[in-house]
Amino acid sequence: MNKASSGKRLIDALTNHPVDRPPFWFMRQAGRYLPEYRKVRAQVGDFLELCYTPEAAAEVTLQPIRRYGMDAAILFADILLIPDALGQKLEYKEGEGPVLEPIRTAAGIAALKPDAIHDRLSPVYETVDRVAGALPEGTALIGFAGSPWTVASYMVEGHGSKEFQETRLWAMRDPQAFGSLIDVLTDATTEYLGRQIEAGAHAVQLFDSWSGVLSEDQFGRWCTAPTRTIVGRLKRRYPGIPVIGFPRGAGAKTADYAAATGIDGVAIDTSMSPRWAARTLQTTVAVQGNLDPLAVVVGGKAMEDQARDILEALSSGPFIFNLGHGIVPQTPPEHVAALSDLIRNWRNG
Ligand code: CP3
Repeated sequence: MNKASSGKRLIDALTNHPVDRPPFWFMRQAGRYLPEYRKVRAQVGDFLELCYTPEAAAEVTLQPIRRYGMDAAILFADILLIPDALGQKLEYKEGEGPVLEPIRTAAGIAALKPDAIHDRLSPVYETVDRVAGALPEGTALIGFAGSPWTVASYMVEGHGSKEFQETRLWAMRDPQAFGSLIDVLTDATTEYLGRQIEAGAHAVQLFDSWSGVLSEDQFGRWCTAPTRTIVGRLKRRYPGIPVIGFPRGAGAKTADYAAATGIDGVAIDTSMSPRWAARTLQTTVAVQGNLDPLAVVVGGKAMEDQARDILEALSSGPFIFNLGHGIVPQTPPEHVAALSDLIRNWRNG
């Protein structure tokens, strides 16, 4: 193992190098809880427009870094830019979330345009380039995409869902047709992340937010296998770039997922035991997580006790402090400041 530090705590933690304290960043660290985000969002108007306007997207990516000095920025974009770039109709409705024209047939898959995605996505690569050039030296830039299963679930349902019945039914009734959608997404996601890396991302994260609805067998087929393909291809092309996987809700299946996919770091949700993660996952990969985002809404001692418990459980191995899911809009920004200070000042023992 190369002993030299990369100069970035996040990358050191992901490549099993020593760190002076755990690196931290927070999922959805850019967003509506910040008044400066709401201002830019109101100026630009539409959420998709914000994602495709490099100057504004770079600005909102940098906002939380300026305020809190996290060890990583995450590109401001969305997992549903891939269906949009493939030609599926997408809209974000105020108070309702994303709405897509559902795809439920082989003909619907055949109408997608995988060869043209970069035409639509090129502003995102420009955002990456701008942010990479503007970040402090020690701060890493994380690129991201949704995992094929999670992105497919929005494409098939046409909106967010709790059970994803249409998607699971299709996957079981006609695994071949559904599998061809997963294949399109696997290819597009690899190309998309590759371009983000070429534009300056130092690491990438795959969000599998809805992997928790699947049985073990289906999880292996629709989550682990495509993730392994994406990671394998990225590792061949960009061997030094760490990949973080976030199989939210995967529970004990996370261990197999981490071992089989070749990821460098695994993000765990709030329901996972940090001590179990230390024993079972940290022996092979870095662990990222997992404070309840609602603890940051509450703040004070409740938040600090839970944060310290996670730090104690996971700081002896490769670890990145994060939340178990995204920051919610009603989070008081000063609670995020208090949490950032607590992590920055934390020392093991
Ligand atoms: O700061 C960051 O984390 C970077 C940006 C980011 C966004 N979305 C911005 C966003 C990231 C990493 C995502 C990932 C994402 N998007 C996921 C995976 C993570 C998770 O939350 O499970 C998913 C499932 C989506 C899809 C999505 N985008 C939904 C369901 C919604 C509506 C719900 C909501 O929070 O409003 C979005 C919109 C969205 N994506 C917003 C932001 C800041 C809110 C948009 C606004 O300003 O109105």
